[in-house]
Amino acid sequence: MHKLVLRSVSKGYAKGTAVLKPFDLVAQSGELIVLVGPSGCGKSTLLKLIAGLEKVDGGQILLGERDITDIEPRHRKIAMVFQNYALYPHLTVRENLAYPLRRQKMRAAEIDGKVIEVANQLRLEELLDRRPSQLSGGQKQRVAMGRAIIREPDLFLLDEPLSNLDAALRTHVRGEIRDLQRRLGTTMIYVTHDQVEAQTLADRVVILRDGEVQQVGPPREIYRRPANIFAAAFLGAAPPNFLAGRVTANRLEMGGASVSLADLPGECRTALAGREQIYAGLRPEALYRVTDARQSVFRLTGHVVRREIIGNSQHVYFRGEAGSPDMTRLAALAGRHMTDELVWTTENLDTDDTLELGIRLEDILFFDADGHAIGTHGGDSL
Ligand SMILES: Nc1ncnc2c1ncn2[C@@H]1O[C@H](COP(=O)(O)OP(=O)(O)OP(=O)(O)O)[C@@H](O)[C@H]1O
Ligand SMILES: [Mg+2]
Repeated sequence: MHKLVLRSVSKGYAKGTAVLKPFDLVAQSGELIVLVGPSGCGKSTLLKLIAGLEKVDGGQILLGERDITDIEPRHRKIAMVFQNYALYPHLTVRENLAYPLRRQKMRAAEIDGKVIEVANQLRLEELLDRRPSQLSGGQKQRVAMGRAIIREPDLFLLDEPLSNLDAALRTHVRGEIRDLQRRLGTTMIYVTHDQVEAQTLADRVVILRDGEVQQVGPPREIYRRPANIFAAAFLGAAPPNFLAGRVTANRLEMGGASVSLADLPGECRTALAGREQIYAGLRPEALYRVTDARQSVFRLTGHVVRREIIGNSQHVYFRGEAGSPDMTRLAALAGRHMTDELVWTTENLDTDDTLELGIRLEDILFFDADGHAIGTHGGDSL
């Protein structure tokens, strides 16, 4: 079991340009950290620094008790799995799995034993004598994982390992990776673009943007309390609807409607008081058709522009009647409910219908003019 500590790690490829600004992160022993962020934000670079495939410009990397900052990659006891499997096409599955151990000059009998053990763990027994060209994408991915775990590394680094797989296989292999990581108890840093992968796999998520950490925390916490607009938009099936708002006297006005400040949760009320400009984030899945007259609901009226029915729920795109009427907004409404009234509300909507939506005040995310969360605190400490 090995803890990974990054202290002020930084990197630039060209002089004067920072791909990673000084970066601190602790991955606890056995923890699965998922690193997410847009293309080019520095995710692969960070993995390469940890693996030793690139040199840091500054800072320190510790794995367990060892300072590995200047240690040769092959002595770091780190296994990296890439997006494109990188299997040897002319070798069988058995030989591919054995390869890292051969290089370590392990005895043949011992290698055979380990190959069988790993093949069992990954359900590859039947495939040992095939070559990579005779395997499906998911099977190749399992062999790549097998080749990583056979070395019994202190740390796994996975760089978008599932992006070549179709959706169903991705879900399946994702579950297998999680189970395997739990069973082995090996610390893992997992890079993905996919927010669903991030939410389902991670003990903690690290959101990166332009080489800078935006937020670190358990996925549920980032979802509930995003540190800024970027983090709010990144984690969630669809980004929130952002409404510009302002506080006047004792009301909060936004999207052409308003609520009394007194109705807001205490911590928000204090944080919002006296602010000229704010942004409110309304998650599509937190909106629902208003059927009750409760005070603590912010109401938004609009007309339906488009609907997409997805299994048991539906995405309703709508435009506001007031405020910024040109902006299309999204509500993700639950599908069939048991009451007659709600079956009507979700199934019988049509284009151009008028729609009254509500959101509980405690579900609204608030941000200041610079996009930083207010009334909440973002994530845990780095
Ligand atoms: N060897 C290199 N030389 C110069 N610039 C590089 C090199 N490798 C990466 N970069 C640049 O560094 C930045 C970060 O690249 P990196 O590969 O870490 O991004 P990423 O977050 O992994 O993106 P993606 O999601 O597309 O894989 C990019 O602007 C990229 O062009
Ligand atoms: Mg990358």
